[in-house]
Amino acid sequence: MTFTDFEARVLAQKPTTAAHYDAEYFTGEWRDAGNNYSLETRRAIEAKNPTLIRDTFTPIRALDLGCGPGALMHLLWELGVDVEGIDFAESSRRLATPEVRDRIAIGSVTDASLKAANAFDLIICREVLEHLTVLEVRQAVSNMVRMTSKFIYVTTRYHPAPADLLDFNQQDDLDPTHITLLNKDLLRLMFLLEGCRTRPDLEAKMDWGGKGRVIVVEKLQPGA
Ligand SMILES: C[S@@+](CC[C@H](N)C(=O)[O-])C[C@H]1O[C@@H](n2cnc3c(N)ncnc32)[C@H](O)[C@@H]1O
Repeated sequence: MTFTDFEARVLAQKPTTAAHYDAEYFTGEWRDAGNNYSLETRRAIEAKNPTLIRDTFTPIRALDLGCGPGALMHLLWELGVDVEGIDFAESSRRLATPEVRDRIAIGSVTDASLKAANAFDLIICREVLEHLTVLEVRQAVSNMVRMTSKFIYVTTRYHPAPADLLDFNQQDDLDPTHITLLNKDLLRLMFLLEGCRTRPDLEAKMDWGGKGRVIVVEKLQPGA
């Protein structure tokens, strides 16, 4: 893809509004069976993820960015992890369990005013970046790096066979709000340029399903 084509596609993208992510989005019939956001469905889907997150990152304070109704937060809370969440959908708080509801702040993943710099030693951002425009992805990456003092753990969906670094898909057959499926290396590049190095050892641990969707990075310390 030429840079001119890339630029035109990026500038033409329209963000999805928070109103789209209502109760129907999280619990509606359009989802495949066994893929809704109830706690018990998510407990089965998450399997060993919560324990793996706790044991791999040993977080003191974690943030789930784009947490949705907070099922992963609840499962981490059960394991004794101090976890907060941010999501721009009001439905997130309504659908969350009472145990974590008040830990969810309503706001955008791109909002740099919600949490202090270095406030968390682990940022989790799973299945969110593909819902953003490319420009929002860049802002979210920057915001994650600002808020973490150590690790960022991301899962998202990528272009399955990009022609080059700039190539990205704007749809898939799973969810109409999947509008940015990047070349994985472009996302890695964004983290590098914001001051993070890759942690392939931790990625291998977190990607136990072998789906290739995980990125784990560690923030470079000043002077490193
Ligand atoms: C597919 S859900 C993923 C939820 C959860 N992270 C998970 O893995 O189950 C995508 C979430 O991203 C949230 N989201 C999308 N764009 C956002 C934005 N700009 N700011 C905050 N949240 C956003 C949606 O409200 C939704 O909860």
